[in-house]
Amino acid sequence: MAPKLRDPSLFKQDVCYVNGEWVKARSAKTFEVHDPATGQLIGTCPEFDAQDTEKAIAAAAAAFEEFRHKTGRERSKLLRKWYDLVVENADDLATLISWENGKPTADAKGEVTYAANFFEWFSEEAPRIYGDTIPSSVPGNRVFTIKEPVGVCGLITPWNFPAAMITRKVGPALAVGCTVVCKAPGETPYTPLALAELAHRAGIPKGVVNVITALGNTPEVGEVLTTNPTVRKVSFTGSTPVGKLLMKQCSGTLKKLSLELGGNAPFIVFDDADVDQAVAGAVASKFRSSGQTCVCANRIFVQRGIYDEFATKFAAKVATFSVGNPFDTGVTHGPLIHSRAIDKVEQHVRDAQQKGARVLLGGHRLPDLGANFYQPTVLVDMTTDMAMASEETFGPVAGLFPFDTEEEVVRIANSTPVGLAGYFFSRDLERVHRVAEHLEVGMVGVNTGLISDPAAPFGGVKESGFGREGSMYGIGEYQVTKMVTYGGMGKKLQS
Ligand code: SIN
Repeated sequence: MAPKLRDPSLFKQDVCYVNGEWVKARSAKTFEVHDPATGQLIGTCPEFDAQDTEKAIAAAAAAFEEFRHKTGRERSKLLRKWYDLVVENADDLATLISWENGKPTADAKGEVTYAANFFEWFSEEAPRIYGDTIPSSVPGNRVFTIKEPVGVCGLITPWNFPAAMITRKVGPALAVGCTVVCKAPGETPYTPLALAELAHRAGIPKGVVNVITALGNTPEVGEVLTTNPTVRKVSFTGSTPVGKLLMKQCSGTLKKLSLELGGNAPFIVFDDADVDQAVAGAVASKFRSSGQTCVCANRIFVQRGIYDEFATKFAAKVATFSVGNPFDTGVTHGPLIHSRAIDKVEQHVRDAQQKGARVLLGGHRLPDLGANFYQPTVLVDMTTDMAMASEETFGPVAGLFPFDTEEEVVRIANSTPVGLAGYFFSRDLERVHRVAEHLEVGMVGVNTGLISDPAAPFGGVKESGFGREGSMYGIGEYQVTKMVTYGGMGKKLQS
């Protein structure tokens, strides 16, 4: 049975939001969206193509001419109003997230709060955008800078956070005066479309926010967003291979670019750590959204002296999870997003077993619950030749690798082309500083497994991409710095 929304008008079927209006695809083509827990059809959405996307870009470009000149305070009020509406409609948004993404209700509500907080944060930043006054090295010159909105932004967001990955991009874009065309993920389009409806109700001017959908046409839509010269900035959250392709496509028009790509997060537990605290941190980091976040622990390294104790306590905690339909009471973990995700998880577990890993818990699908369910799994005796050491699993499987020394574990942790998040647990202050400085990642969690916060800069190094989202740094991603020099400005007062 379809879940009920308090406000059914938030469920937008067969329409996208362009230029302040709800429109169908030019071709009238649609694609199906399925509930990952039951496999049942949720509904259909417009299959936008290149021409539909061009129209949305044109609407954003027209809106930019006015919106860029609103004062920071005006933009702040609009974002604040949108924030208030997201909070007021949190239950419905959480229902949509659980329905199309499979997150249990409590997690989905957590995501709505996380998502709303980006609007709150950036509504507070909007009136406080300052340039600089710079002492010139040329006598008689005065130099200052103005921060200007970069222009129309193409935003491409993933299914694992159907609300928060959009608000994290749209919040700063609107705060500085940009307008956006947001390509919603084909797996989870209804949450972004509901956010668009709330933008409309908040009075965001037409054309400022456009939300479009596509599934089969995703590469075509992506190509338009990355090659159309009117789009001046692209922000993408997703896989590293797709990020590289989009970057290539953006090079033709030299767009400003932010890429938040895949990770392979090391999670290191030193033998001086509080083991119970480390177990709680590892459970939170590894199994958040059933392992389907870019910052989930992917390789859990435990120092040999506490390896067995950690493994036993960790598996005992994981054994308490309740896997099932996200709407069922008491369920802590839902399905994975689709069968490809399940196949990858299964392949990683099989590969590890073939190379000598032991299954302490789980290790199989849960077909009685549905095609996309996998039992939360703990593997021990992991070695670095296993696929899980070099590939992101993106599922509910924790592999525990033993290690001996600090130097060894940091070397192994860094031996990957990506570097998004890294975590470690230690009570040795000197080690804390040393290891935090040596990890090749954009974000470090020390004695915590949860680092996401609208006030903290989110982003990676190496092939995890570049650019920062959230925080005071997130705003600059949507701005250009214009320098103005006044010449011939004498110093002497006229007599
Ligand atoms: C992601 O998985 O890309 C985002 C995770 C987060 O914001 O915590």
